[in-house]
Amino acid sequence: MYSVLKTIHSYWAYLALLILVIAAVNALIGMSSKKAFVAKDLRLSLFGLIFANIQLLIGLVLYFVSPWFEQWSTLGMGDVMKDAQTRLYLLEHPFTNIIAIVLITMGWSMHKRQTQDAKKFSRIGIFYTLGLLLLLSRIPWDAWL
Ligand code: HEM
Repeated sequence: MYSVLKTIHSYWAYLALLILVIAAVNALIGMSSKKAFVAKDLRLSLFGLIFANIQLLIGLVLYFVSPWFEQWSTLGMGDVMKDAQTRLYLLEHPFTNIIAIVLITMGWSMHKRQTQDAKKFSRIGIFYTLGLLLLLSRIPWDAWL
């Protein structure tokens, strides 16, 4: 169970990040070039939202079955915080990524309430980019690449 989830979480991350980059860049271009917000833009943003939320769900289950989780009882809160790697896996990566996906989901909901195309692009562009920057800041790059 653990290794299957870890593999899925690891490969899904490529897809989720790629789609989020495409959706954010597409929205930033749309925002600055005053284009109409068409079905392609809606689909790209929706795929970004769905892929990010699926990654979040896989991550939530992985968290509790991963050997990292046992470090809570082995080390205790103080030592988990002191060690950079356990802090990354048990606190920084999960919590930063949950905040990132909340931002992405907020961008999606806010764009739906806008009537002007430029505002739709700006809500997606700004919130997806912020979310992406947070995600990229707390990926365990050494273990992944
Ligand atoms: C879009 C959001 C996320 C992305 C892009 C992402 C990406 C990654 C990547 C690339 C790895 C390294 C995989 C490897 O070692 O091959 C990883 C590990 C991990 N992630 Fe995430 N993650 C996300 C969200 C989450 C969330 C929300 C949680 C938990 C609540 C989580 C829990 C974990 C855990 C526990 C590991 C370590 C697995 C292990 O080595 O045992 N992730 N994540």
